[in-house]
Amino acid sequence: MTRDLSTPPVLPSGSLSDSPQPVLPAAQGLVLRPWQSTDAATFLFAYQDEEIRRWHTRRPSSENRVLEWFARYRQDWEQDRGGHWAVTRDGSEVLGRIAMGSVNLDEAIAGVGYWVLPAARGAGVATHALSALSAWAMDEIGFHRLHLDHSTRNHASCRVAAKSGYQPEGTMRSAGLHDDGRHDMHLHARVRDA
Ligand SMILES: CC(C)(COP(=O)(O)OP(=O)(O)OC[C@H]1O[C@@H](n2cnc3c(N)ncnc32)[C@H](O)[C@@H]1OP(=O)(O)O)[C@@H](O)C(=O)NCCC(=O)NCCS
Repeated sequence: MTRDLSTPPVLPSGSLSDSPQPVLPAAQGLVLRPWQSTDAATFLFAYQDEEIRRWHTRRPSSENRVLEWFARYRQDWEQDRGGHWAVTRDGSEVLGRIAMGSVNLDEAIAGVGYWVLPAARGAGVATHALSALSAWAMDEIGFHRLHLDHSTRNHASCRVAAKSGYQPEGTMRSAGLHDDGRHDMHLHARVRDA
């Protein structure tokens, strides 16, 4: 395909899709693994939580929709667009979600996002999952920069970002549309070797 870019690609096409989506170990026995159809009910249940609904406006409406999302997750991997993992205890019980999207292989940049089920919060699950995903993306795949944003009112997410090495880069005014209106968004990023 013609790229029309003056710079050579930092990461080649196939950087994700040439291998099966990996299972990633994280601290405290956490395991990041691809979503399975048997996770659909738990995934749907997560979006009943007030905090997840407060910060995530894109929500599945049924288990069938969840299965469609999971199919799109697999396509994202197969087309080098992203990766989506269940954060689990020992590979079985689902505790949360972590994902990499907005992948730009030419520039070796991607975005990340996450949520954790209410019962599993406050124990470092999001921080350990984000740290493991980031280390894999940078050290194994070769991404140069990973970024995330969160509402300036979402203090827990700000802590997760900071604890995982995502330094604050500023405030994007009115950049996030939530159920209760527009929010200013904090931008954070982790840059390789910086
Ligand atoms: C944000 C979220 C992912 C954090 O998951 P988690 O596994 O509990 O995160 P961790 O345990 O790794 O760290 C949570 C940190 O936030 C802090 N925190 C939690 N609630 C907080 C609050 N209301 N105000 C300030 N800090 C808060 C904790 O004290 C902890 O920081 P510390 O280690 O410095 O004490 C989880 O709360 C969640 O899913 N929330 C709803 C969805 C969401 O916000 N997704 C992110 C959208 S950008």
